[in-house]
This record gives sequence, C-alpha cells and structure tokens, in this order.
Amino acid sequence: MEILFITGNAGKFSEAKKILKHFGLNIVQRDSLIEEIRSDSIEEIASASAQAAYAEFGKPLFVEDSGLFIPFLNGFPGAYSAWVFRKVGNVGILALAKGKEAEFRTCVAYADGKEVKLFTGSVKGRIAEEARGKGGFGYDPIFMPEKTPGINHSGEKTFAEAPEMKDALSHRKRALEKLGAYLKR
Ligand code: IMP
Repeated sequence: MEILFITGNAGKFSEAKKILKHFGLNIVQRDSLIEEIRSDSIEEIASASAQAAYAEFGKPLFVEDSGLFIPFLNGFPGAYSAWVFRKVGNVGILALAKGKEAEFRTCVAYADGKEVKLFTGSVKGRIAEEARGKGGFGYDPIFMPEKTPGINHSGEKTFAEAPEMKDALSHRKRALEKLGAYLKR
C-alpha cells in the first residue's frame, strides 16, 4: 500500500520511512505549499493540514505536526516550535530553559477522504546544558530523553548524539507505530 507523507522535512521523512517499513507500508514524500493554521494545539494543526492536503492530492496521506513542550515555560515553544527554531534556534532555548524538563510531542493525521484519524506520540526528557551531537535535526542536539525500560541508554545523551536511540523511542516512532497498526488492520 502506498501512502503519501506530506512534508518538506527530509529528516522527518527518513525517520517515518524506516518506522513504517516494519508495517509493510511504502511511503512517498510530497511537499505542499499549504499554509499551516495557527493554533496552540498540534492536533488541530495536523488535522487541518491533513484535510487541506487531501483536497490537494486526493490520495490517502498523512501529515504530522510536532513540538517541544517545556513545562517551566508553560509549554512554550509547543505548537510554535518551528517558528521559534527559525528565530532563535537551540541557542535561544538553551538560554531560556537549560536543564529543564521537556517533552517532544507528535500528532500524525491520516486522511483517506472518508475520515481524518489522529495518532499521538510523546517522549519525556530534559534540555541539555549545551548542544551536543550531529545526528537528527531541529532540537535534537539539546534534547535528552529520560531512561526508558527495555531500551539501553544512559539518559545523558541527546537525540543528536544517539540517532539509534531516537529511532527506538522517539515521539514520532510512538505516533507512527499507532498509524502503522491502524493501517494494517
Ligand atoms: P513541525 O512539526 O514541522 O512544525 O516542526 C516543529 C519544530 O520542531 C521544527 O523546528 C522542527 O525542526 C522541530 N522538530 C520536530 N520534530 C523534531 C524532532 O524529532 N527532533 C527535533 N526537532 C524536531
């Protein structure tokens, strides 16, 4: 089964391709010029984008919206993560929230013309003291996931230092596994 993943982000696409391969799903990347709605909710954004993308492509597809949520900053940058990253990057987040608890969240929205289904995934951790590592993208160099039962990692490495650890426990993996299971039914 071929499904479109509407994204301009090559990092997201390669992660999703690996994850969904395990479900026998072949995904194809398409970019779109659709403008994201503005909202505090990644679920609302993903849902609106999936509907707009289905109107454009007319094939089964999914989009995803993600964000880095920092409780100390009242959830900021959250649904505004892309905009904040462009403006102040990891340096800006470090200045505001070094060492603080943080959570990555993803909402995947799947549209097939009949319905829009949402699948969420999250991973808790904290902001590092400085940016470390070369893997991944975006906020990966400053995010250290907490220890997770069954997964061997120290809780001290950033996603960018240990991409295989990101593959094993990321917010994106957790959301896309739910999509994979749904589509396999
Ligand atoms: P969006 O989902 O494309 O709106 O992404 C929100 C922002 O969070 C962008 O700046 C991304 O680079 C960043 N982001 C999304 N997912 C990840 C991730 O898995 N790791 C690091 N940063 C991410």
